[in-house]
Amino acid sequence: MSAREERLRARASEAGQSHVIDALAGLAPAARERLLAQLERVDFDLVRKHGALIRSNGSVSSAPRLEPAEVCAPRRSSRDRERAERAASAGREALARGEVGFLVVAGGQASRLGYDGPKGAYRIGPVSDWSLFEIHARRIRAATERHAHRAPWYVMTSQSNERATREFFERHGYFGFAPDDVRFFSQAMVPALDAQGRILMASESELFLAPNGHGGSLEAFAASGALEHARSRGVRHLSYFQVDNPLAPPADPCFLGLHILEGAQMSSKVVPKRDAGEKVGVIGRVDGRLGCIEYSDLPVELREARDERGELRFGAGNIALHVLDLEFIAQLNRGGLQLPWHLARKSMNVWDGSRVAPVQGYKFETFVFDALERATRSVTLEVERQREFSPVKNAAGEDSPATTRADLCRLHSHWVRTAGFELPAADEHGIHPVEVDPLLAEDLETFLARRPARPLVNERGHLYR
Ligand code: UD1
Repeated sequence: MSAREERLRARASEAGQSHVIDALAGLAPAARERLLAQLERVDFDLVRKHGALIRSNGSVSSAPRLEPAEVCAPRRSSRDRERAERAASAGREALARGEVGFLVVAGGQASRLGYDGPKGAYRIGPVSDWSLFEIHARRIRAATERHAHRAPWYVMTSQSNERATREFFERHGYFGFAPDDVRFFSQAMVPALDAQGRILMASESELFLAPNGHGGSLEAFAASGALEHARSRGVRHLSYFQVDNPLAPPADPCFLGLHILEGAQMSSKVVPKRDAGEKVGVIGRVDGRLGCIEYSDLPVELREARDERGELRFGAGNIALHVLDLEFIAQLNRGGLQLPWHLARKSMNVWDGSRVAPVQGYKFETFVFDALERATRSVTLEVERQREFSPVKNAAGEDSPATTRADLCRLHSHWVRTAGFELPAADEHGIHPVEVDPLLAEDLETFLARRPARPLVNERGHLYR
């Protein structure tokens, strides 16, 4: 056994994982090298911690004390409306100075959607047939053109989709961006474990690794050099969004301005939850500190609790749109990023020594919103769901491609109707197949101001561009 293998064996067996070294025996040289390279990247101390987390059942020692968060709601309070209007000019100035960069997290595995490829490549435009990436790209380009300033776009992938994502961007000419304005970086992967805390194998020569959650974006952003790149470009604030939501406005002057004027380090947008059971996290105060409680962790009596007006007491649904200050990310990374780990029990296809078979295993993730409690200042802004949130999560039913396409059509039909244009015939669900290119307009006001001559008509419907 080589010195390299001896070193690895010592580390692995100390962590109770010698089976992964035993797996090297009998492998052909290339396979052996692949497994060795994977093993060298494993943080065995972390694996040990994750094993302990399984044994403690992922439980926290006491139930958290939960209170609603203070929310800025311009649609419901005239004071907040005035505050938001004042803030918008600060946001526009920051955009015009090029102080805002963009970060999309796209490292997830799209398993619920059942799509074999990077989720961002999924075609969602109801009339245009544009992919999620293309729609986000058009929105960012619209913002940079409007504010006459180029800004970098950071795309977080994971090992499982990095190559495919890069190729997709290349094939589409970087969607009109200068290649230097798009930077990819990959989040880290961590081993999945069985119920006894032993590392699972994906094949005889591969560990079963899974992306470390979108909290990994904060670490990988710094470690990959993206943070330095952003600094060198004069970026001070990062607009963060998820690839699954084509309605996400990446450059909202009001949100950016509120964040800046508040001197906040990390801010969030919320929408009122559709109903108590909606699968979104809730922004609230957890033991006195701002945070987000995942839907699965919200006890049923709190999920259903209502205030004196009959509204959900914990109804501030997290739509995963944040502004993060660059210096806050740098500060979080000083001495190593320490976000809590969450475990998820899932069925996975693993190598059992002779074949690949499904077992119940554990994956480990950190969540970006757990950084909220480290922010000394933060803004929580309530926005309208129909304008900003319609994620593609599932293959069918709620939050699926069908509901997202319908939501896009509904919003854009409203603009087209208000402008006095004719709508194409509605389908059997009353949806008019209409879509507006974000490069033309991202809101009703701009659409009315630009008043496009006529739409492009194709077999799917009307596209205004
Ligand atoms: C997430 C939020 C939830 C929020 C909802 C809004 C979590 C745990 N919860 O739920 O609070 O209300 O979105 O839509 O995130 N991703 C990565 N790397 C990873 C894992 C995920 O980049 O390792 C990206 C995915 O590509 C996706 C996004 O993060 O864009 C969300 O992940 P997903 O697992 O779909 O989160 P949800 O459970 O739907």
